Amino acid sequence: MSEAMWGGRFAKTTDEMINDFQASISFDKRMYREDIAGSIAHATMLAKCGIISDADKDAIIGGLKDILKKIENGDFSFDVALEDIHMNIEKRLTDAIGDAGARLHTARSRNDQVALDTHMYLRRETVEVLRLILDMQQALIETAKKNADVIMPGYTHLQRAQPILFAHHLLAYFSMLARDFERFRGVYARADIMPLGAGALAGTTFPIDRKMVADVLHFDRIYTNSLDAVSDRDYIMEFLSAASILMAHLSRLSEETILWCTREFSFVELDDAHCTGSSMMPQKKNPDVSELVRGKTGRVIGHLTAMLTTVKGLPLAYNKDLQEDKEGVFDAIDTVKFSLAVYARILRGMKVRKDVMRRAVEEDFSNATDLADYLAKKGLPFRKAHAVAGEAVGYCIEQKKWLQDLSMEEFKKLSPLFEEDIREAIQPDTCVKNRNSLGGTSNAQVESQLSAADTLMAEEARETDKLTEKQI
Ligand code: ARG
Repeated sequence: MSEAMWGGRFAKTTDEMINDFQASISFDKRMYREDIAGSIAHATMLAKCGIISDADKDAIIGGLKDILKKIENGDFSFDVALEDIHMNIEKRLTDAIGDAGARLHTARSRNDQVALDTHMYLRRETVEVLRLILDMQQALIETAKKNADVIMPGYTHLQRAQPILFAHHLLAYFSMLARDFERFRGVYARADIMPLGAGALAGTTFPIDRKMVADVLHFDRIYTNSLDAVSDRDYIMEFLSAASILMAHLSRLSEETILWCTREFSFVELDDAHCTGSSMMPQKKNPDVSELVRGKTGRVIGHLTAMLTTVKGLPLAYNKDLQEDKEGVFDAIDTVKFSLAVYARILRGMKVRKDVMRRAVEEDFSNATDLADYLAKKGLPFRKAHAVAGEAVGYCIEQKKWLQDLSMEEFKKLSPLFEEDIREAIQPDTCVKNRNSLGGTSNAQVESQLSAADTLMAEEARETDKLTEKQI
């Protein structure tokens, strides 16, 4: 008989290299808290249902609490020969308390145990992500409010297009993050389903009470099919997918930050404390954080692809392939959390160069649409107005002038509809103020976006606090 916890039918012990290959303790040990909380709930339920004695239950709970303390104090040594976190803890418990420990695994398989731990772990980490999304949204709103009157060129095709408020630009990212918040809230809901009691795949012959375990561990729902309970990894794929989309948003913001702090743009300046230099070129100040966030986005997308590929084609129910669900999602959790935290800091330390942004709007033709709109409002069909404005731009390029430099005579030559008020109409501030359609860049619209943002953040904060309280 082999020494392993499942050694009964084996004549030999596991080859050491084979064991190193198949063990997961190096990464699943981060679920020790969930494993212990899950086992305490399971033992409590077993005793309540008369499956183990109260004395055994008390010994188990005492022993597990002891192990928790040891792990948290750093004096628990994990043994790779024991494969994973579940068997490391169970073996240590049994060494300490004897037969009571050996009864803990009644009516349970590692298949439903690992599913339970991962659900609980992901639930808790998802709440952390929600909190960090909220803080990033707060940083965006602070920056927008601090620069409420700053006008910049809005771009399409990375060509200056129309003047916009810098705050409006930041609020676009706020909206993306608001959807990210919703998506992660959905991830939470799908992680909040209790799998324990599925056994290895088919349920158990013991008279267990799954509802009780779900209540003790604050789960909203219980898996209704035992095969699904042990083989569902949707919540992990959903986490990775929400994480990939979130990272894509941060990556776009990173790309813009990188552009904005080039000498060519000079729209913003990052805090010295948030940049690094070059070991050769003394003048350099590099936006490494933005580059890394952009770079790490690929990694998270890679984890999503890996998980989808792992699950695709897997027969029911548990297969060891599913152990591959953890490293990717753990790394995605770390990456997303770190990226959000770091980027909020970048935003808060960013100096906005209002004058440079202003110049980029004034020494430009991004008011050409407003010139066309002016004529259309005087009755000229828009297509014709567009043609006149295009002609005006062509003329200005030839004359090395901007639209606002044209004399009244030159304006009249382009169209008799032009009057003195054209000057006011193509002022950047007017261009912005007049885009007052719902969701537009006008000061009034941005003002109402900002107040809606405050309301939403208050709701998100309440939601996050509520979920925090549910964590074990
Ligand atoms: N370490 C395993 C995992 O993470 C635990 C479940 C193992 N179950 C089994 N039947 N080998 O998936």
